[in-house]
Amino acid sequence: MRVYQIEGDWGLGHLRPATRPDPAPGPGQLLLRMTASSLNYRDLVVLDRGYGHFTGALPLVPLSDGVGEVVALGEGVERIALGERVCPMFFPDWIAGEPDLSRLTQSLGGPLDGTMSQYMVMPASGVARVPAALSDEQAACLPCAALTAWRALTVLGTTRPGEQVLIQGSGGVALFALQFARLMGAHVTVISSSDEKIERLVAMGAHATVNYRRTPDWARATREITGGRGYDQIVEVGGEKTLPQSLRCIRPGGTISMIGVLSGAAMQASLGHVVTRQVRLQGVTVGARDDFEQMCRAIAQHGVVPVVDRVFAFDELLPAFERLKSGTQFGKICIRH
Ligand SMILES: NC(=O)c1ccc[n+]([C@@H]2O[C@H](COP(=O)([O-])OP(=O)(O)OC[C@H]3O[C@@H](n4cnc5c(N)ncnc54)[C@H](OP(=O)(O)O)[C@@H]3O)[C@@H](O)[C@H]2O)c1
Repeated sequence: MRVYQIEGDWGLGHLRPATRPDPAPGPGQLLLRMTASSLNYRDLVVLDRGYGHFTGALPLVPLSDGVGEVVALGEGVERIALGERVCPMFFPDWIAGEPDLSRLTQSLGGPLDGTMSQYMVMPASGVARVPAALSDEQAACLPCAALTAWRALTVLGTTRPGEQVLIQGSGGVALFALQFARLMGAHVTVISSSDEKIERLVAMGAHATVNYRRTPDWARATREITGGRGYDQIVEVGGEKTLPQSLRCIRPGGTISMIGVLSGAAMQASLGHVVTRQVRLQGVTVGARDDFEQMCRAIAQHGVVPVVDRVFAFDELLPAFERLKSGTQFGKICIRH
């Protein structure tokens, strides 16, 4: 079968097309013929071995996200049938319940081989059906970015109608957060570096926007949007440089979902604010299969359509990564297998 793999050494320059023997499912496993993949910022971090030994060993098939058709079943598999369309789960061992170390350390696209592969063998328990209305490329966007936004806003933070939600940027996680926060009836503010992207965010339903490049003190500007009360929920992807501002515009008792550290991972924020405002700083790392299934029911019921920026062919993985690195995309970058 055809794969892409990082071989020899880490880095974008070591990504190569290759062939591996066709895999066969063992007891309790199934075989997927992959039809689409999508890229996440995390895949760039993996390429540079950014998660240390958690990233895994070479050669490694990259990308955590994808969708495929079930083409063979191993002995004893009953929960999924031949021909069904499923996503392999980002954490195949995390079915339900609380995260624990064993559930969080086995993830696709590092240390486990990822979705840039013609076929994948998965434990039958580590996949989930996707909404019928979505194309393969749209469905391939769900396992990491969508589930992270879903878990932040509905499982770890509970968004209620009329609440004020602040979302940072217009990346993969942010666009799903905007769609889900709207679906839950929240008032949504999005900050972005680009006026062009802001126009598209408004078209998607953002109630208020701030260009954080033109307004570096966006905490003050966004706080005014809430009438001085502050945000009930903030979706944090910036980390070091954005958390101090988030702490200035969260309401007392509000939740800051810590999802990314795009501007650095050091803690430079005033912990006094966390204490005196009783702020909940909530780390979020993707989610369980159970959360994924609940999210898919909501997507199907409310007709949520993932935003796809561009679809590349299987052998165009390098240009797809270049587009991700450029930061100019709006929506998910996908691969058609
Ligand atoms: N914890 C988890 O489970 C999990 C899951 C998924 C992603 N993540 C992390 O979350 C982050 C975002 O991932 P992604 O896949 O959504 O990335 P992405 O699609 O590459 O989006 C990045 C976007 O973030 C915005 N941004 C960058 N720096 C910013 C800043 N200083 N202030 C505000 N916004 C800023 C930019 O939006 P504009 O262009 O509009 O300015 C940029 O386009 C990454 O750090 C990733 O590793 C974590």
